[in-house]
Amino acid sequence: MFYIGIDSGTQSTKSVVLDLETGEIVAQASQAYDLISGLPAGHLEQHPSDWISAVEGTIGDCLNQLGDRKNEVRGIGVSGQQHGLVVLDKNDEVVRPAKLWCDTSTVEQCDQFAAQFGGTEGLIAKAGNAMLPGYTIPKLLWLKQNEPDHFARVSSILLPHDYINFRLTGVKRMEYGDASGMGILNIRTREWENELIDFVDPRVREMLPELGSSNSIHGTLLPDLAEKWGLSSAVIVSAGGGDNMMGAIGTGNIADGKITASFGTSGTLYGCAEKPIIDPNGEIAAFCDSTDRWLPLVCTMNVTVVTEQVRDWFGWDLAELERQVASIPAGADGVSFLPYLNGERTPNLPNGSGVLHGLSGSSASPAHLARAAMEGATLGLAYGLRRFDELGLTPGEIRLTGGGSKSGIWRQISADAFGVPVVGLATAEGAGLGGAIQAAHADGKGSYEELCSRLVALDESTRCEPDPEAAELYREKLDRQIKLTTVLKDADLL
Ligand code: XUL
Repeated sequence: MFYIGIDSGTQSTKSVVLDLETGEIVAQASQAYDLISGLPAGHLEQHPSDWISAVEGTIGDCLNQLGDRKNEVRGIGVSGQQHGLVVLDKNDEVVRPAKLWCDTSTVEQCDQFAAQFGGTEGLIAKAGNAMLPGYTIPKLLWLKQNEPDHFARVSSILLPHDYINFRLTGVKRMEYGDASGMGILNIRTREWENELIDFVDPRVREMLPELGSSNSIHGTLLPDLAEKWGLSSAVIVSAGGGDNMMGAIGTGNIADGKITASFGTSGTLYGCAEKPIIDPNGEIAAFCDSTDRWLPLVCTMNVTVVTEQVRDWFGWDLAELERQVASIPAGADGVSFLPYLNGERTPNLPNGSGVLHGLSGSSASPAHLARAAMEGATLGLAYGLRRFDELGLTPGEIRLTGGGSKSGIWRQISADAFGVPVVGLATAEGAGLGGAIQAAHADGKGSYEELCSRLVALDESTRCEPDPEAAELYREKLDRQIKLTTVLKDADLL
């Protein structure tokens, strides 16, 4: 029996086919796409049609690889980038491109929410979360205020993975995990917070589809797609979820006490919780997961973005980046790289920018810059881990996923900066595998505990233990990173 996991990300879509009996990935395919170019700073958008062609293209490739065995496909689970806003008109046509999780153009709209609802404290009292530019609902308020003609045409709104589910099944529905990143779900009760919705426009209530359990089946494959792909129209599509929620499933993070760190374009640290974890400072996002539990999460917007920038400056391949970073001692001889190239969510600096500090004649080298960049991006996540610790979530080890976690030197820097052992996964990329596992679960093929213990495996050869001396050095370096950030922010320079 085969289950397809689709990981629709910001840079590409990757699909995998999981053989449920053997646990093997029997087919996989990926397709890349871009952001829309030429938009003003802070506006990050994509055409939802690009996601759909990549979904169709990668599924088509996977099915070709399966040949006759494609009739063993039983289900599909979709992971999508969180928070993006897909707006549809009354004919279900996309009204305008989707503003994405990394779009920071909605600072004013977030301020309006805060002014109306008693600041961060008032918003957390209502929904469990602060209102941040990355979240979905400020994007809709932005649309109303900046593109009223477009807003007037909107008849329904969906998140990226909901839109893919819709195009696969014809059903519009939201599940708790991804919906909790919109800014309007009271994550304690898992119900919409109508006052927040009405603040945008009372009409928004009608734009929202049915909301329900992440354990339910979303629907079955549309007959025309089933026919085109040569699949049965009984193939189910599970509820799916945001990439972090699906990454949690795909890294076996389905019980209290585990933490996963994802090193992608953005970085996230998240755990699974049996009850809502609410941060009074609003820095740890209080999300729901996609197994009907909760998912405290910290997100930084600058992880591989920073190391990729350095590679681009010096024309290095990945192996060269590793060599250069490894040639410089921990701490980068005092060079700090505040990594806020894309603005930042944690700490909340939507208009932030990158800063280099501590350069001297002997440390002004490309290798120092590279080490400082990797350390700065990792310390951004270590800042979030400190906050996890303050809220009582202290992991014994951290599971690593995402492109950055493939680097040995980066794994060691993470173990040292986090002060806990880290280990990578032997199994496929978290979010896609999570999609396939969720589909199997929704299809009644076992509990998450059974499925994950059989299908998710750690790669012990990647385990790194923290070095006590380096860990102490990074504690101090993190203090310096926080101090530099605070001083520059208070002076209005970030
Ligand atoms: C998390 C977040 C990012 C996106 C990336 O809140 O915004 O991790 O989900 O796709």
